[in-house]
Amino acid sequence: MTVERLRIFDTTLRDGEQAPGFSMRIDEKLQLARQLDALGVDIIEAGFPIASKDDAESVRQVAQEIKRPVIAGLARCRPADIECAGEAVKGADRGRIHTFLATSDLHLEHKLHMSRAQCREAAVDGVKRAREYTDNVQFSAEDALRTDLDFLCEVVEATIAAGATTINLPDTVGYSTPDEIFDFFKTVIDRVPNADQAVFSAHCHDDLGLAVANSLAALQAGVRQVECTINGIGERAGNASLEEIVMATRVRPDRLPLETDIDTKAIYAASQLLSALTGEPVQANKAIVGRNAFAHEAGIHQDGMLKDRRTYEIMKPEDVGVQTTLVLGKHSGRHAVQNRCQELGYSLSRQALDQIYVAMIRLADAQKSVGDDDLVAVIEKVQAEQGQPA
Ligand code: KIV
Ligand code: ZN
Repeated sequence: MTVERLRIFDTTLRDGEQAPGFSMRIDEKLQLARQLDALGVDIIEAGFPIASKDDAESVRQVAQEIKRPVIAGLARCRPADIECAGEAVKGADRGRIHTFLATSDLHLEHKLHMSRAQCREAAVDGVKRAREYTDNVQFSAEDALRTDLDFLCEVVEATIAAGATTINLPDTVGYSTPDEIFDFFKTVIDRVPNADQAVFSAHCHDDLGLAVANSLAALQAGVRQVECTINGIGERAGNASLEEIVMATRVRPDRLPLETDIDTKAIYAASQLLSALTGEPVQANKAIVGRNAFAHEAGIHQDGMLKDRRTYEIMKPEDVGVQTTLVLGKHSGRHAVQNRCQELGYSLSRQALDQIYVAMIRLADAQKSVGDDDLVAVIEKVQAEQGQPA
């Protein structure tokens, strides 16, 4: 089986940052960009320079400082936007202009008041203008999944001919399904005669909770760049989550034979940093990085885990940089309690363990879950009552 390279395009600082509650100051964006660099992403979309002075300045500073990944700046297919993005990424070792234009009739008629012919012309002009600043140009057909397929193929062919090296076809409103997006990318890649001269990219939103599933289906259809964000943040319900896509390729190489340069051990730190910078907590049951993602509380699960971790664990928490695993709660079994006590350095009689177990369950009932501090306090109390040394 040949393993192909998948490029990770991180848009936490652009699509992610534009979501309510997730705005960051320039110094915070730089801090996150350093973490994204350590994580090993291929492309950092650092912002939308024409949007504000601060956006332009943060893209400029990221481009100046972060040297390994490609640094991208977003621009509509308008001369002023492209000039602004070109200036902002000028200091990068490898800068990219990411220019976009909506292609669906809905957007053309009701938002842009443009004909299809005008749209194709503006897209081509935008790409050509961007090429005056850099040879690394990405074109995105906004609302691609709701665009007439014949027209979309025409635009894709024309923008590649004009010099676009990456073609991104976003599911802007999170409307697609995995089977549909698979057929969609397969058709476009098969039909466009110069498709081999560009990397195809997916950018999926999560309005129906399908962003990651859709991105993975796009990869199976031949897409080799995926746009995603830490913790899945982004417009409305968010973008596809970087950590979920990357871990899917690591855990299921049999289905997704694609390699990335992501250091998965740095995933949790990136997730926590984003949460700390924005003050937005990560949902407890969020896959990979949520507080409960590796927590086994049910007694049967804890017992199975202690016998053989593979019973209930498909990846190790350490693989994504998470240290803690077992949470003791009211559903925990005796085996888990005994094990944790031993890990904490206590060797207990059967009678002491019985008492500790009952006390622990009572405590968990009152306060949901029991941490190590609580458990130690219970052990000490029981041992004191039994006249044993603490
Ligand atoms: O969702 C979208 O269509 C976008 C484009 C600007 C790439 O974010
Ligand atoms: Zn988007």
